[in-house]
Amino acid sequence: MSQPKRYLVTSALPYANGLKHVGHLAGAYIPADIYVRYLRSQKRDVVFVCGSDEHGTAIPIQATKEGTTPRAIIDKYHEAMKQDFEDLSMSFDIYHRTSEPIHHETAREFFTYLHDRGELEVKESEQYFDEAANSFLADRYIKGTCPNCGSDRAFGDQCENCGRTLSPDELINPVSTLSGQAPVKKKTSHWYLPLGKHEEFLRNWILEEHKDDWRASVVGQCKSWIEGGLQSRAVTRDLDWGIQVPLPDATGKVLYVWFDAPIGYVSATKQWAIDNDKDWKPYWYDNDTQLVHFIGKDNIVFHCIIFPIMLKLHGNILPTNVPANEFLNLEGDKMSTSRGWKLDMRDFINDFVKKENGGGQCVDMLRYYLTQIAPESKDSEFTWKGFQDAVNSELVSIFGNYVNRTWVLMHKLCGGKVPALHADVMDEKDKAIIETIAKTKTTIEQLLEQYKFREALYQVIDLARAGNRYMQEKEPWIVAKRLNEDPAAQKLIDNCMHLCLQLSANLAIFINPFLPNTAKTMLHMMKVVDKILDWENGGKLKLLSVGYSLREPQLLFRKIEDEEIAAQIQKLKDSLAKATAASAPTVEAKKEEQAAKPSIVFDDFAKIDLRVGTIKAAEKVPKADKLLKLSVDMGSEIRTIVSGIALHFQPEAIVGKQVVVVANLEPRKMRGIESNGMILMASDSEGKLHFVSPESMINAGAGVS
Ligand code: 2FM
Ligand code: ZN
Repeated sequence: MSQPKRYLVTSALPYANGLKHVGHLAGAYIPADIYVRYLRSQKRDVVFVCGSDEHGTAIPIQATKEGTTPRAIIDKYHEAMKQDFEDLSMSFDIYHRTSEPIHHETAREFFTYLHDRGELEVKESEQYFDEAANSFLADRYIKGTCPNCGSDRAFGDQCENCGRTLSPDELINPVSTLSGQAPVKKKTSHWYLPLGKHEEFLRNWILEEHKDDWRASVVGQCKSWIEGGLQSRAVTRDLDWGIQVPLPDATGKVLYVWFDAPIGYVSATKQWAIDNDKDWKPYWYDNDTQLVHFIGKDNIVFHCIIFPIMLKLHGNILPTNVPANEFLNLEGDKMSTSRGWKLDMRDFINDFVKKENGGGQCVDMLRYYLTQIAPESKDSEFTWKGFQDAVNSELVSIFGNYVNRTWVLMHKLCGGKVPALHADVMDEKDKAIIETIAKTKTTIEQLLEQYKFREALYQVIDLARAGNRYMQEKEPWIVAKRLNEDPAAQKLIDNCMHLCLQLSANLAIFINPFLPNTAKTMLHMMKVVDKILDWENGGKLKLLSVGYSLREPQLLFRKIEDEEIAAQIQKLKDSLAKATAASAPTVEAKKEEQAAKPSIVFDDFAKIDLRVGTIKAAEKVPKADKLLKLSVDMGSEIRTIVSGIALHFQPEAIVGKQVVVVANLEPRKMRGIESNGMILMASDSEGKLHFVSPESMINAGAGVS
């Protein structure tokens, strides 16, 4: 197959509302950077774009939290994120911003183009409105309980807990995040993109054309969107922060952030072209361009369904692939900024990278571990112990050790110069290792072309492993002992060290897309120029010339000590405790909350059937970290009740407890399980939950009044 003419690679534009954590890094950034570095090492024409997503409700909400303006927020976090990416060796060709005029113009042009061709429809609908704040409640201005996982961290656009895309109407018990009050409905009109009109195109393009070359999880998610019935999507909002809708009758309306953000890839390309005196158009219009979007799984619908429809209508090329990653958990739990359960890129930079001379080593350690555990096909987990093991037992003991031994022995046994390869004493082992080097190149290539970064990295380490084995079998340090009596001994040593050195040079080429700082250190040790890292040199011998003198070895990776790991785990616990304390309502707030409920007549209270039940069994609800499924003995029957108490109680610890149950609550489905009743809980001033139970055991089913 002939090679495409050019590549445009994008990483999801992060919201400029706060620092990003390593889960983000593992999902949309490091894999993209590996891919791009690999393409560049092949001298392919590639542009890598990213930037800050600066619109949407996330920005003004953060501004309110920090007591400042949206503009100040985006300026602050744009700079901070840009710096974090730089510090972690991300190699974007441009890190742009969606607040730039060129982006506003580009997004407006897109909207106008679609509008003028009748591709958008105007619809009037009733939307949630906060009367106290006199404001419509778009996206994150409204929150409630997630209909999918039962979490109360669900917003009008998405559930923070399970990642499900939501619309405000789907939320259970919605409240305004502006005033904390229950919203009312009010009429408003908006422009919609009728996705349903494009169903056939999507079916052909994704479910047929790309069913085999896109990740199964991506095709699967698209399939369920398509089969679930594609609803029209509003592409405008009633907000005052965003890009004004470019129509005369649209005062107070802005483009929906998910309409403008992906267009950010286009405007970033335009700006890159201006800065580099290039033409941006072929990257978005020429069919010989491969457009690849690296994203997290919560962005699939936007990159595989909505944006491609916009691109198609606008006459642009479509993405060739959208390698979306699943989520990265941390020490057994989901990463969450609001709960303080996260490892920010900035924290890693401060605690590791900035603490060392040549922090590039630590950058590469993180890049290594995040690639080794990359959530390519299912959610995966960052643990500090895992990080330590990956660094100490793979980078230090296999890769670093191999390169270091090669250099030390070459200095000791070959006078610090590249020895010759003597064909007359070559044996099967020599031939086998030469073959392994060549094969590794082809395998890595195939894996990277299929976006299988984890496996590709494994191949690099495996080559170092093979090198260690080869050296161990050849034992040049033992052969050296017979130098006086065996005239062929030096030739045997030369062959071994020659091949070990050529293998090291190959390791530098292969590791370069993944761990660029390590490759750089190796270049220095080899005293060669960057050019040697060109991919076409991989798999070959003769990278280092015979007789060429090399520098002393440098330590490629240091060990991660137990104390460093213990300190990080403690830090994580402290951060969780701090976030929990900050989010727990104060006693006054609780009183206010209670006082806010209007009084009711006794007859209303009498309608509630309260009964004592005994918990007979409890188990976690899969993929819903807050929910427990309880079997409760109600005297005359055993009821299934789903309760949102999993973060407070271990299932086995509550079996046998007596609880008060609202027995006549309408059944409700949570995570596909029908819940028949609700357990009463008391919440103390720290937000800790307590069962409301009879003083001593009584018969199950007893009434409470
Ligand atoms: O999920 C997010 O963080 C979004 N800001 C990603 C946007 S990607 C692109 F479309 F800009
Ligand atoms: Zn959810």
